[in-house]
Amino acid sequence: MLTAQRVLVTYGSKHGSTADIAQWIGDVLRAREIDVVVLPASGIQDLEPYDAVVIGGGLDAGRWQKDAARFARRNRKELDRRSVWLFSSGPLDPSASEREIPPPKAVARIAERVHARGHMTFGGRLAEDSDDFLTRRLVADGRSGDFRDREQIRAWGEHIAAEVNHTGPAG
Ligand SMILES: Cc1cc2nc3c(=O)[nH]c(=O)nc-3n(C[C@H](O)[C@H](O)[C@H](O)COP(=O)(O)O)c2cc1C
Repeated sequence: MLTAQRVLVTYGSKHGSTADIAQWIGDVLRAREIDVVVLPASGIQDLEPYDAVVIGGGLDAGRWQKDAARFARRNRKELDRRSVWLFSSGPLDPSASEREIPPPKAVARIAERVHARGHMTFGGRLAEDSDDFLTRRLVADGRSGDFRDREQIRAWGEHIAAEVNHTGPAG
């Protein structure tokens, strides 16, 4: 019998929608008997307790939200010793549900550095109540709405769960 795997799902999220995705992925892993902790990337000090890590970032001008990017940069050696998967959340249209969207260059570089086992792009959500200039412009362009695809997120979570349970404990 395999020892329980402990997985960290961590995220960088400016307006909360990437945080929701991280929680939903955590729920899927938990339902598969995996010991999961879901935490913001800004609050993690130590990766020692975890066998595998899922990192998600909300996209902002072609980059991950800064806490996610910083987490990946600072912990690159520790991440290299673990199984790592990445996800990005951004597109404000149904495109991410219709086809696989490759990560932007900045995120692809992170994936290379940590030797990520996979990357997935999910649709995003634009909060209409946000009052910064760029958000208002996107809302005016009709880009507001919630394009997160729960079924796609669940399926990806199941894929990670299967890989984690298949791999067994690190080390
Ligand atoms: C100023 C701004 C820039 C954005 N840039 C991108 C981008 O480069 N690529 C993308 O796919 N989505 C982009 N988005 C959409 C966000 O990634 C999307 O709203 C995401 O769900 C936000 O995640 P959060 O709620 O976790 O902050 C942008 C949104 C805003 C407001």
